[in-house]
Amino acid sequence: MMAWTKKDILDIESLRANEIELILETAVGMYEISERPVKKVPALRGKTIVLFFVEPSTRTRISFDIAAKRLSADCVSISASSSSIVKGETLMDTAKNLEAMNPDIIVVRHSSAGAPHFLARNLKACVINAGDGMHAHPTQALLDMLTVKRKFGRIRDVNISIIGDISHSRVARSDIAGFTKMGAVVTVCGPPTMIPVGIETLGALVAPNMDEAVSNADVVMMLRIQKERQKDMLFPSEREYAALYGLTAKRLRLLRPDAVIMHPGPMNRGVEIAPEVADGPQTVILDQVTNGVAVRMALFYLLSGGRHNADMD
Ligand code: CP
Repeated sequence: MMAWTKKDILDIESLRANEIELILETAVGMYEISERPVKKVPALRGKTIVLFFVEPSTRTRISFDIAAKRLSADCVSISASSSSIVKGETLMDTAKNLEAMNPDIIVVRHSSAGAPHFLARNLKACVINAGDGMHAHPTQALLDMLTVKRKFGRIRDVNISIIGDISHSRVARSDIAGFTKMGAVVTVCGPPTMIPVGIETLGALVAPNMDEAVSNADVVMMLRIQKERQKDMLFPSEREYAALYGLTAKRLRLLRPDAVIMHPGPMNRGVEIAPEVADGPQTVILDQVTNGVAVRMALFYLLSGGRHNADMD
């Protein structure tokens, strides 16, 4: 197995295809731990991990926390509202104070694009980007790639259609980068006001309408409208959006029977996805969440220099 050499996980663009393969292979080895009666191995005993979330999160924060605990790391969590950021302390001062306590890994989610890169340049600790503004969400892309690989046995030549608010989505940006790097065919579709100009330069095709986008897809990935990142309303109403770009029960009939439906969460049921579709047999949305724990365990393990199977007993 190749040795891991990177200090930080900041975006998908800076990972090589063989590094993504190594992360996914390592993640596969982590499933079994999560299914044991005692879900804990000593691999990261003595390591300290800080989860520093300046933006809300359910899935990402909890799965990083669970991943750290399953590997026996000591894990502490701080949020913006419970830290001295509310008293005016800068990001750099907060981070330097965290580093003074000598953590091994800092996981950061921040509303400003580039915040994790800034910390990585200035801290000795490894930094993992858990989502920065509209820029990147690399661990989401890795768990999405793992979900596709487990479902289809490969990523190469799988047709992935990503539907919705592409412009404001860090998940879309990281998924396009990751899936195209691993040889998948990525198509995007959404209101023209939510498709970035020049998206083709990232390697994505643009479908003219939703029906065309879903009918040839192996994977239909639905995205939430990122209202918190939009200055103006970019479509007339949620009702119109649901009719044109929602995955409804009627539109579900256009999908191939073996196609799967993904969503990074949180879902807005009745807007981008109908409740009966979200809960139907073709969705792998909760598999994505399970895979998120495995991917985050793999990243902690690799960044900590783990290579010995004995640590996993
Ligand atoms: N997918 C995702 O990032 O979800 P959370 O915002 O709940 O972490």
